[in-house]
Amino acid sequence: MIIAIDGPAASGKGTMARLLSEHFNLPHLDTGLTFRAVAHALLVAEQPLDDENLAEAAAQSLDLGALDRSVLSAHEIGEAASRVAVMPRVRQALLEAQRSFASQPGGAVLDGRDIGTVVCPDADVKLFVTASPEVRAQRRTDEILGKGGRADFETILADVRKRDERDSNRAVAPLVPAEDAHLLDTSKLDIESAFQQAVSIVEEIRG
Ligand code: DC
Repeated sequence: MIIAIDGPAASGKGTMARLLSEHFNLPHLDTGLTFRAVAHALLVAEQPLDDENLAEAAAQSLDLGALDRSVLSAHEIGEAASRVAVMPRVRQALLEAQRSFASQPGGAVLDGRDIGTVVCPDADVKLFVTASPEVRAQRRTDEILGKGGRADFETILADVRKRDERDSNRAVAPLVPAEDAHLLDTSKLDIESAFQQAVSIVEEIRG
């Protein structure tokens, strides 16, 4: 069984994917981390983020087993990842790794922006998790403050809007719900209620 979860930054899709993978005992790939790892490799090497040859080479040498969330989850790396994600050859290189993860026996849970539309168009279950920009910016702000960092709500809200705009309007594999995706708006739902809804959807489709 393949469960595809898409949605914008800080929508709750990552938590949803993790909970579903634990509940259904399926391996999970956060594909955002793959784009983040490419951006991180370029930043560390002090290379530009818009050189497609360099970014493609970084994507081709990516090791899915070595994605370190504690390093890659930084807010600025998300912004840089959104910039490398517009390049078709970067997406192509990562697509191969993502599809090979999805095709393992027994299935998998993948989350990202284009899982239901491009990476796994035949996924058994497709969820599109959203929330308003204000709710998502507040969550991101709280998360950073909770870790003892500095965060300003208005700056984060502007970043969230900029990232939505870039991810939704790029030419290749833009952020858009698959036609057959189930929409889950978490603006007014806590994650536990949203998770229960998702489990019901998966079980109904499985049954
Ligand atoms: O989900 P995230 O915030 O970790 O993703 C970081 C960026 O990576 C996101 O802004 C766009 C890009 N991305 C993508 O283009 N396609 C995916 N399947 C996942 C992420």
